[in-house]
Amino acid sequence: MKLEIEHLLKILGSHRALDSLSLTVENTRSFVLLGPSGGGKSTLLRVLAGLEKPDSGSVRINNVSLPDSELGLLLYRRKIGVVFQGFNLFPHLTAFRNITLPLEVVHGLPPAEASEIARQLLVRFQLEKHAHQKPAQLSGGQRQRIAIARAIAPRPNLVLLDEPTSALDPEMTAEVLQMIEELRDDGRDIILVTHELGFARQVADTIALVSQGTIAEIGPPKLIFDGPQSPITQSYLAKTLRY
Ligand SMILES: Nc1ncnc2c1ncn2[C@@H]1O[C@H](COP(=O)(O)OP(=O)(O)OP(=O)(O)O)[C@@H](O)[C@H]1O
Ligand SMILES: [Mg+2]
Repeated sequence: MKLEIEHLLKILGSHRALDSLSLTVENTRSFVLLGPSGGGKSTLLRVLAGLEKPDSGSVRINNVSLPDSELGLLLYRRKIGVVFQGFNLFPHLTAFRNITLPLEVVHGLPPAEASEIARQLLVRFQLEKHAHQKPAQLSGGQRQRIAIARAIAPRPNLVLLDEPTSALDPEMTAEVLQMIEELRDDGRDIILVTHELGFARQVADTIALVSQGTIAEIGPPKLIFDGPQSPITQSYLAKTLRY
């Protein structure tokens, strides 16, 4: 993907959650956002997902501007996959139905086709034995993997993930990270917020450090991890690696 962001401003309450944030990323399949809590990562992801309109500034993805109108944003949101915390599975539906319902209702696929896509995804990610369980009957890792399967079911070219492994134990984290790595290897573009530094280093083509609503540093993983220039990056890495 190519991502060009210029002077993005987003005010929440009286706080500049994004404070004239600018960046350019090119030839990047997986873009990872790191940074301290409250820095603006989720806000940036919500703007990129078309869920939140910026107060000013511009975003271009693969040379196309983010739409401005509500209808434009609605159509845009259908073309991307999102996995956000607390914005995930329908609790009253089975895992299978969680995947097929949006395919039928939002994307207009015939039920037979939606079912076939869901079946294939569940097999591919070894979730078929959970097809008929409801979210409350699944582990956190299984829930999160169903949420990712649902997000990629319409085959979006771009998938946005906000801390998909937070609140998971190490084994479940590994399962979810493996799934994300497979998406990347599939040729899908990914923008991921995570605090899993080892994973970030392994899968990211480009990493940005987001702090105080702006970009403290951006570059390939090697540069960020082996020779961080910004004191913000240095302090974030030192703190995150210590525990
Ligand atoms: N509705 C709101 N009203 C006022 N301030 C808000 C609101 N939502 C978020 N903020 C503030 O905006 C800033 C950025 O929040 P954001 O959720 O984007 O941070 P983050 O980098 O995702 O943090 P974390 O790592 O903890 O998830 C924070 O200081 C937060 O307190
Ligand atoms: Mg966040």
